[in-house]
Order: sequence, then structure tokens, then C-alpha cells
Amino acid sequence: MNRFHSWREKAGAWLSPIVHLSNNWISLTGVVLVTSSAVFWLFSLPISMRRELDNPYLGILLFLVVPAVFVGGLLIIPLGIYWEFRRERRRGQNPTGLPLNWRNVDLRRLVIFVGATTVVNVLIAGQASYKAVTYMDSVTFCGQACHTVMAPEFTAYQNSPHSRVSCVACHIGPGASWFVRSKLSGVGQVFAVAFNTYSRPIPTPVHNLRPARETCETCHWPQKFGADRLRIVDKFAEDEANSRTKTVLLMRIGGGRKGGPGIHGAHLGEGVVIRYAHADEARQTIPWVEVTRPGAGVRTYLAADAKPEQIKNLPIRTMDCMDCHNRPTHTFELPERAVDHAMAGGDISPSLPFVKRQAVTLLKAAYPSREDAARRIPAALHAFYRENYPAVYQQQRLEIERAARALTAIYLRNVFPEMRVTWGTYPNHIGHTDFPGCFRCHDEAHTSADGKTITQDCNTCHQVLAMDEPAPKILTDLGLVTNGAAK
Ligand code: HEC
Ligand code: HEC
Ligand code: HEC
Ligand code: HEC
Ligand code: HEC
Repeated sequence: MNRFHSWREKAGAWLSPIVHLSNNWISLTGVVLVTSSAVFWLFSLPISMRRELDNPYLGILLFLVVPAVFVGGLLIIPLGIYWEFRRERRRGQNPTGLPLNWRNVDLRRLVIFVGATTVVNVLIAGQASYKAVTYMDSVTFCGQACHTVMAPEFTAYQNSPHSRVSCVACHIGPGASWFVRSKLSGVGQVFAVAFNTYSRPIPTPVHNLRPARETCETCHWPQKFGADRLRIVDKFAEDEANSRTKTVLLMRIGGGRKGGPGIHGAHLGEGVVIRYAHADEARQTIPWVEVTRPGAGVRTYLAADAKPEQIKNLPIRTMDCMDCHNRPTHTFELPERAVDHAMAGGDISPSLPFVKRQAVTLLKAAYPSREDAARRIPAALHAFYRENYPAVYQQQRLEIERAARALTAIYLRNVFPEMRVTWGTYPNHIGHTDFPGCFRCHDEAHTSADGKTITQDCNTCHQVLAMDEPAPKILTDLGLVTNGAAK
């Protein structure tokens, strides 16, 4: 070691192997990529240590692009070295000149240098790839990175009971195999967005969704339900007084282990398997249903117009949560319902004359863009009261402004022209009033060989305690309505 007289010579000798080995344009490019991305990474550490990045584009840069450049650089350095090695050998030179022997100082130095830099690089790459993976699983990335594409689902999600459940909890779920599958299909999705080949609206049902019974049941499981649940639906008529009525249903949620009773037990109780064939992609037309019950064997129901030779070729699906709860979180609304909901909650005051009718009309009108709708809806509501009810316009100005804001918000969370998502684009299978839903099967027209039908009896799934009544007696009895007026 006393061959070296100054630190400069020492450093030179230590660096010489890499200088020699990387003295070609490929490796040099690699070195530049690795060092510049490492420096960038170092300076971005304070930002990336924050738990969740708010800006999706910064996230893509920090957690996807920078690590990719870093690893790419690492890969091409040895490529260049190999290329250089081949070139020198073709020229008849001995590229390294090293006898392969641990006593050779140059070789020792090379091994130590490569070892030390590899440790540093692995640390950087490890931290970066861990960050990349957690970032790709974040709600920010799923919901906002491809801004236009996911806007409808992300918006509806924020307005749902699952707004604190991450996208991947339902779409991927725990475990390595679905993780890998989702990352592979994710690569395809990134290309579809990059080359603008994705479909608008994004088609539903989603085929590569992990089976619901594996994801939903990590938080909800059918045996857990059991109690009945009271459901009160408020409606407002389109008259001047916005007359309010209530429907009261006692939902037979059901659960149980023995395959019934109740909604969940009947379809998903222990040992119960329901399979069905669907004639269309959206699973709206169901000509064949088969139910297997423990102890009761198998029964098959055929729709009235079903032709056995056609059914043979149809796809068959086993019923799970998604066949009823297909919109547990991307709950798009219909105009009437959204307005009823806002009126019941007080965001749109029922004291404004004809507000239900005006609100629904304005929501259903066609607007060239979301920006245009956000301008024209409030203006039109103001104009309606200014022209037709000047006194109301004077006295209830604040209520009109509030209603206009609520109305605009409803429009903006349901209509996305760029993705061709509008009222009713995505059917909801829960219920039977807005979409076929339960009545796809429960229509008294699916008949078994022994003459049984899938029931449409109004008190099977729910007890109808009141239907569109101004002041249902049942609510008075329960103390939920006073003085004959619905609260
Ligand atoms: C509570 C579970 C759950 C969560 C959380 C969730 N999704 Fe979904 N998602 C679903 C279900 C269920 C479907 C519909 C599947 C079907 O109809 O086949 C769906 C469908 C979709 C679709 C297809 C288009 C459509 O509306 O049917 C997209 C896109 C989507 N989700 C994106 C997201 C994004 C982005 C997030 C996070 C912001 C997210 N999802 C969070 C359950 C969930
Ligand atoms: C990570 C946990 C988690 C997962 C996974 C999950 N949920 Fe939920 N779910 C919740 C929470 C939390 C609530 C809100 C409960 C509340 O508001 O009382 C909820 C609420 C619901 C509700 C509404 C209940 C109500 O009172 O309106 C339904 C229906 C539901 N989930 C169905 C599903 C379905 C279907 C899936 C699978 C696609 C699913 N959930 C996946 C945690 C989860
Ligand atoms: C046959 C249709 C159907 C299937 C299948 C189904 N559900 Fe439900 N579920 C319903 C209906 C209907 C309700 C009541 C909705 C209401 O009250 O508005 C409900 C209510 C719920 C609730 C709220 C329970 C409560 O007590 O308030 C949760 C959570 C839920 N379901 C989760 C699931 C999960 C998870 C699965 C799959 C294991 C599943 N459901 C399968 C129809 C179904
Ligand atoms: C894919 C077809 C299909 C759909 C969709 C469907 N069901 Fe069913 N349902 C069945 C079959 C099959 C049975 C069992 C009939 C039998 O007993 O042979 C059943 C039974 C039931 C029962 C028990 C009936 C009884 O006599 O005790 C209830 C309650 C029920 N369903 C509620 C619902 C609700 C609520 C929905 C919508 C959210 C729904 N079902 C959607 C196929 C379906
Ligand atoms: C197969 C099960 C099933 C049968 C049979 C059934 N319903 Fe329903 N019904 C539901 C479900 C599920 C909902 C939705 C609850 C919700 O909104 O979450 C519902 C909702 C309703 C509503 C509330 C509608 C609204 O505007 O929100 C009314 C009213 C109603 N049903 C009446 C009836 C009548 C009348 C019959 C008999 C012809 C009937 N139902 C048969 C399952 C059923």
C-alpha cells in the first residue's frame, strides 16, 4: 500500500477499475443516469417521506419514473462493460490483464468497489421500489393519476360509505397472486391510457375484479347480518308545494348459517349456491337460474321465453355479493332520487315553490360541458324565481343560492361527458324500481320443472309497512312523526 504517496493517487487507483471498465459510451450513459437519478432521489426524500402525496403527477415522477431511470442505468453499465470486453478481445487484447488471483491488488480493489456500490444501489433501489409499490396502491394514484379516466368512479367513491376504504382493498385484496395479476393488468391499463385506447365509459361488469367473497368478506361476512332493518324513503312530488311522502320498508337483511331466512341467507347461506346464465354482457337478461340448497338438492328455473339450445352456449356465473351490490361505492345517482335526498337533508329547501320539478328539469337538460352546466344550472334556477316568484326571490335569496349549489354538486358528481357517463349509465342491482335489479330473477316468470317460480311476493324481501304516504301510521307509532306531519 505504500506505493501510494498522496490521497489523490490512492483515490485514483481505487477508481481506476471503474474508469477502465466503464470507458465506453453505453456504460457512461448508464453512470450518468444512475448518478443523476440518485441525486434527484436524495433531494426528493423530504417530499417522498410524507405519507400520501396529494399531487399524482409528482408521485408518478418520484416513485415510478426516477426509480425506472435508476434501475435502467444500473442495467446498462454492465452491458457496456461486456460490449467493451468483447470489442477488445476481438482486437486480440486481454481486456483486463488480471490474473484471477486474490493477491492481485487491482482485482481486490475492483471487487471491493463493486461490492460497496452495489450495497448502496440496492438500498436506494429497495427503498424506491417499496415506495413505488405503495404509491401505486394509494387512492391518489388509482383515483387521480389518470385524471379523466377515473374521475367518475373517484367522485362517486368519495360520496359513498366506503370513502375511507382504499381502492385496492376491493379491487385487488390481500395476497401475492392477485397482487401480481393486478400489476400485470395495470401495465396494460397504463398503455391503454397512454395510447388513448380505453373505452368510454369504462365497461362494467369488471372482469378482472377479485371475487367479491374474498374481498368484501374481509370486512363484511354473510353470517354477520341477521337483523331486519328499517328503511325510510322520502319522496317529493313535482307540485308547487313539493308534497312529501314516505315509504317505509322493513328490509329482511337476513344472514344465518342454514341457508335462510332473509336476503343474504337465501343466496349465500352456508351450502347455498346459486348459478345463473346471462344473455348479455351487463347481466340484465337471465334466462337460466340453478339453486343448490343443503338437504334440498338442486332446482333449475327457466325464463318463460328461454330456449334450451341457446342457454347451452351462455356464460354461467355463480352469484356473489356483486350480483346485488354492484355499486357499493361507485354509487351514481338518478336525478329524482338525488334531489329527494338533498331536499330531505335540507340542502334544497322544500319551502321553495316547484323546486323539485325545476331541479329535476335542470339536471336532466343537456349541457355541452361540465363547466357550462356549473354556470347555467345556478343561473337558470335564479332566473326561474326572479321571473315567476319575485317575492320568494326577495325573501329566500339565501335558500335559492344554497339550492343552486347543491344542484350543481349533484350534476358534477354524476355526469362526465368526457367519459360518456351520464344519468343511468351504470345500472344498480339493489332493488327493482330504478333498474331491473332483483326482478331480473324474481319475476314470477322463471319457472322450475315442478311448477315453482322465483317469488315476487311483496313481503318476502321486505315488509312494506307504508307506501308513498304523507304521514305513515307506523312512523307515528314509533314516534318518528309528530302532529301528523312528516319530519
Ligand atoms: C367497496 C369496494 C370498492 C372500492 C373501495 C372501490 N371500488 Fe371500484 N368497483 C367496485 C365494484 C364492486 C365495481 C363494479 C364491478 C362490476 O360491476 O362488475 C367497481 C368498478 C370500478 C370501475 C369500473 C367502472 C364502473 O363504474 O363499474 C372502476 C374504473 C373503478 N371501480 C375504480 C375505482 C377506484 C379508482 C377506486 C378508488 C378511488 C375504487 N374503484 C374503489 C368496488 C370498489
Ligand atoms: C376494508 C373494509 C371493507 C371492505 C373490503 C368492504 N367494505 Fe363495505 N363497508 C365498510 C365500512 C367501514 C362501511 C361503512 C359502515 C357504516 O357506515 O356504518 C361499509 C359499508 C357497506 C355497505 C353499506 C351499509 C349501509 O349501511 O349502507 C354495504 C352494502 C357494503 N359495505 C358492501 C360491501 C361490498 C359489496 C364490498 C365488496 C365489494 C365491501 N363492502 C367491501 C368496510 C369495507
Ligand atoms: C341477493 C342480493 C344480495 C346479495 C347476494 C348480497 N346482499 Fe348485502 N344486502 C342486500 C340488500 C337488499 C340489502 C339491504 C339494502 C338496504 O337496506 O337498502 C343488503 C345489505 C347489506 C349490508 C348492510 C347490512 C346492514 O345490516 O345494514 C351489507 C354490509 C351487505 N349487504 C354486504 C353484503 C356482502 C359482503 C355480500 C356478499 C358476501 C352481500 N351483501 C350479498 C342484498 C344482497
Ligand atoms: C340471479 C337470480 C337472482 C337475483 C338477481 C336475485 N335473486 Fe333472490 N333468489 C334467487 C333464487 C334462485 C332464490 C331461491 C328460490 C328457491 O327457493 O328455489 C332466491 C330467493 C330469495 C329469497 C328467499 C325467498 C323465500 O321464499 O324465502 C329472498 C328474500 C331473495 N331471494 C331476495 C332477493 C333480493 C332482495 C334480490 C335483489 C337485491 C334478489 N333476491 C336477487 C335468485 C335471485
Ligand atoms: C326479491 C326481493 C323483492 C321483492 C320480491 C320486492 N321487493 Fe321491493 N325492494 C327490494 C329491495 C332490495 C329494495 C331496495 C331497498 C333499497 O333501496 O336499498 C326494494 C324497494 C322497494 C320500494 C322503495 C322504492 C324506492 O323508491 O326506493 C318499494 C315501494 C317496493 N320495494 C315495493 C315493492 C312491492 C310493491 C313489491 C311487490 C310487487 C316488492 N317491492 C317486491 C326487494 C324486493
